[in-house]
This record gives sequence, C-alpha cells and structure tokens, in this order.
Amino acid sequence: MYVNNEIGTMQKIEEIGTICKDANILFHTDAAQAIGKIPIDVEKMGIHLMSVSGHKVYGPKGIGALYVRKKAPRVRIRPQIDGGGQEFGVRSGTLPPHLCVGLGAAVDLCKTEMDRDHKHIRHLSLYLEKELRSKLDAVYFHLLLLNNFFFVHIYMCH
Ligand SMILES: Cc1ncc(COP(=O)(O)O)c(C=O)c1O
Repeated sequence: MYVNNEIGTMQKIEEIGTICKDANILFHTDAAQAIGKIPIDVEKMGIHLMSVSGHKVYGPKGIGALYVRKKAPRVRIRPQIDGGGQEFGVRSGTLPPHLCVGLGAAVDLCKTEMDRDHKHIRHLSLYLEKELRSKLDAVYFHLLLLNNFFFVHIYMCH
C-alpha cells in the first residue's frame, strides 16, 4: 500500500521497487490513496502493477484501473473473469465508458491542480500547528519532510 488510508503513512516505494528488481520479483502497489496527490513514476519506482480507484480522486464511484507494465519486463496477468475476452482477454465484460472517461478526467484534473493542492494543504497544516500550539500546553509534532511533502503526526497532552 503506497499511502495508508487510516494513518497516512507512506511506503518508500522506490526502495521497495529496487529490492523487488534485485530479487527478480514482480511489484504491485495499491496506489488508491496516492494517485493524483503525489507524483508517481512507475519507471523510476520499479512498479510492475499498480491499482487505483476513481472515487479517491473525486472521480466516479465504481471504476478503478490496474496499471500493468508492458515491457522490461512484460507482465502477464491471469483473468479473474471468463467470458468475451475483452481488454485483450484480461477483463471480460463490457466496460462503462462514462465511468472510464470520468476516471481519466479526474486524474487529469489532479495533475493540473496538484501543486495548488499541496500549497493549500501545507497552509492548513501550518495553521493547524499554530492554533494547536497556541491553545494547548504540550503538543508534540513529528514532522517528516519527504520529497518536498510535509507529513505531520500530532500527539497532544492536556
Ligand atoms: C488504500 C486503499 N486501497 C483500496 C481501497 C478500496 O478502493 P475501492 O473503494 O475502490 O474498492 C481503499 C479505500 O476504499 C483504500 O484506501
């Protein structure tokens, strides 16, 4: 899991990708909470398979996507549904075009708004920190600056 949906922790995906590459094993990451919020470079990070979900990026519910690496190495997956052999035999059944388009549009928007969102979230984080510090006696912040992103864990004592 790239970004944990409960506690916000981020895995060091590039390091995991390197370990997998060295061990010659395929690497799948669940990027449902990462896509559209932080830049993802499947090449650099050694990702072979990556799953994402539409509604996490304000896209429609009921649609997701699986990135499958095509070369170096070519990854082949076994279909989970038998039937008409759509999507090159990987996913039988008819896809809903409106949901597919919605997912694509949502991810496109994320790309153009990512910088602005980061600035806004950074502003909110700093505001939260300032307010908590001014109102509580003891507040402990565990800050982590990773790839220019600010992750904050807050512990409060009354
Ligand atoms: C990290 C992560 N993976 C997968 C899922 C499941 O995605 P979906 O709701 O599209 O099945 C969620 C949350 O719903 C999630 O936070």
